[in-house]
Amino acid sequence: MLKLEGKRIYLRPVRRSDAEQIYRYARHREISRFTYVPYPYRLEDSYAFLKSLRRWRRKGTSEVFGMVDKGSDQLLGLIGMHRIDRVNKRVEIGYWLGKEHWGKGITSEAVRLVVRYAFKEMKLQKVVARVWHPNIASAILLKKCGFKLEGCLRRQTFRNNRWYDEFMFGILKREYKFSDREQ
Ligand SMILES: CC(C)(COP(=O)(O)OP(=O)(O)OC[C@H]1O[C@@H](n2cnc3c(N)ncnc32)[C@H](O)[C@@H]1OP(=O)(O)O)[C@@H](O)C(=O)NCCC(=O)NCCS
Repeated sequence: MLKLEGKRIYLRPVRRSDAEQIYRYARHREISRFTYVPYPYRLEDSYAFLKSLRRWRRKGTSEVFGMVDKGSDQLLGLIGMHRIDRVNKRVEIGYWLGKEHWGKGITSEAVRLVVRYAFKEMKLQKVVARVWHPNIASAILLKKCGFKLEGCLRRQTFRNNRWYDEFMFGILKREYKFSDREQ
């Protein structure tokens, strides 16, 4: 099984047995505020998401990992690689974390693991992320992980009865610092 090891967490592909825990986290309104996660969120949404993911995996366009606590093996949230584009060698990431685990640097660790995997193992050249304004926590964490703000797509998404501008963030392989031993 694919496993990306960090200090406090590891990432592994999401599986069907995660459905109930995904539901328990994702039904919180704040998870849906700046994402396409539906609200209200039902257990069926979780199973439908996992079913779609199996289809995306077969097509090779997405992989979604669980962020898992190393000590307890508890699932904490999800981080996905989407629109995997092997011609242009780029991928888009998206993530959410269970509300009770916010503010401890967990998603920053997960983003770094995925970026390293994209460049080192998948041989991609660029990782991008879209942040709906004003999702400050997400913008800050991407900058901390070395992403640069590339532009703003104005009134790009209509959701929750309002328009959102989307900030495009990206990191290039040549900007990413592998440790000497890894290179
Ligand atoms: C965005 C999200 C994944 C962040 O996860 P997290 O594990 O709490 O993030 P981290 O702790 O790694 O980093 C967040 C950073 O933003 C900072 N931050 C958070 N809220 C902030 C605010 N309102 N103002 C300023 N800084 C803020 C944190 O202090 C932290 O920086 P620090 O490490 O320098 O202290 C989480 O809030 C979440 O799941 N949100 C809902 C779903 C979502 O919006 N997903 C992203 C879509 S693009």
